[in-house]
Amino acid sequence: MSTTISIIGAGYVGLVTGTCLAELGWNVICIDKDAEKIRSLQNGEIPIYEEGLQQLVTRNSLAGRLSFTTECGQAVRHSRVVFLAVGTPQGDLGQTDLTALKCAAKEIAHNLRDYTVVVVKSTVPVKTYQSVFNIILEYKPPDTRFDIISNPEFLRQGSAVRDFLYPDRIIVGGRSKKALTIMRRIYSSFIHRHVNYIESSNETAELIKYAANTFLAVKISYINEMADICEMSGADINQLARAMGLDKRIGPAFLKPGPGYGGSCLPKDVKSLIWSCSEMGYNFRIGAAVDQVNRGKRGSVVNKIRELLGPLENRNIALLGLAFKAETDDTRESPAIHVARSLLDSGASVLAYDPAAMDRACLDIPKLECVNSPYAACNRADLIIIMTEWNRFANLNYKRIHKLMARPIIYDTRNLLNPRKMLKLGFVYFDNGRVPFSAAVENMAHLRLGWARRKNARVSRKAGFALQKA
Ligand code: UGA
Repeated sequence: MSTTISIIGAGYVGLVTGTCLAELGWNVICIDKDAEKIRSLQNGEIPIYEEGLQQLVTRNSLAGRLSFTTECGQAVRHSRVVFLAVGTPQGDLGQTDLTALKCAAKEIAHNLRDYTVVVVKSTVPVKTYQSVFNIILEYKPPDTRFDIISNPEFLRQGSAVRDFLYPDRIIVGGRSKKALTIMRRIYSSFIHRHVNYIESSNETAELIKYAANTFLAVKISYINEMADICEMSGADINQLARAMGLDKRIGPAFLKPGPGYGGSCLPKDVKSLIWSCSEMGYNFRIGAAVDQVNRGKRGSVVNKIRELLGPLENRNIALLGLAFKAETDDTRESPAIHVARSLLDSGASVLAYDPAAMDRACLDIPKLECVNSPYAACNRADLIIIMTEWNRFANLNYKRIHKLMARPIIYDTRNLLNPRKMLKLGFVYFDNGRVPFSAAVENMAHLRLGWARRKNARVSRKAGFALQKA
């Protein structure tokens, strides 16, 4: 295995891809412009929270198969295969910003010597491979040859290493037989294990990524709308989702209701596909509906809190969970961040706790107060809102929490807790399509009546003492 592989971009995708390729036995050089990041990686420090990655980076660095550099030119000159794994963020209008990708393509071109396979790993709109090809063609030295392969990634944050090493499928798009043969060699261990290995055109490979992510978003928005319908009709979303998922044609994954999908991929990719379609003169209606439902879900979370508590000025809200999903420290496009901002804008005071994502969230929202335990967040709170499905939130001491709170109200947007148990403990509890909001409003009215009675009793007791004294 003498082929050296360069990975341009040591972010989330590049780092996981490079490390896992090294684990498969390849010599890998990860390149990034961020000198600080490269220094940390050279010292064995991982800039992201990803299960299993630290051990793999250490093992492969020590074995001499994995190295990190800021020197793009030198690495490219030594590599037969160069992966492009740079960020492709969302532009202002929903389009994908390809600046970093184009810049990297130029850098490859300037350093092209022998035949090189350029593999686009970043998520890019259909036909982007053509722009990469044109740039390299324009800037490369004469008489040098290259091919472009489109090889999208399907790595979920939190399980990216597992997803890379045990994939459902590998998609390799390209036209050149030579490049396709080299890619088959790189992925030979998967082919031997009979992992689904699909070769297609570049366009198809690029579009598969968007089609897959958008379909996942469709499932989530669908189940979230179903949760609303369950609430209106008194049905139970968990039972409904389970029954739906048992149909093999539907499958159980991505049918968990929540406050809407977030992260750096699904929201961006849905918008990008809508944008690409509009550029081709097509109105991608399902995509637009999914995006609209997702944004609506976050809004309705805040509206329910407002409906229950009245004006939010000076209300204390405990917000449990800031990451866009469990097992990650990422808060990009996190529904929790949107909800926290909205609550703060409405005048509420928000105490937040997350096991992994507090540093980033506090930097993003200076007005947000992050505390170091869920109990501290719940102290004197008027309402707890669970935004991220961290398992540990299901196992908190809710008896203790009940005593700590000013008003014992829980809004469980992830259906993490046992409603019966919570109601038994005396909470006003509502969630996402299991315990209807109307029941919580009714419970709240009873509670208010109870408070009023207790208050009146205190008043009449005082009056009684006054009479006795007189
Ligand atoms: C997603 C895809 O799942 C990966 O296959 C893809 O490679 C990746 O994007 C990417 O394009 O790089 P990721 O962003 O890590 O992965 O997150 P997901 O696990 O897909 O979750 C996305 C959002 O949907 C989260 O906010 C999560 O809480 C929410 N979700 C997920 C639900 O609300 N319900 C579900 O049933 C599943």
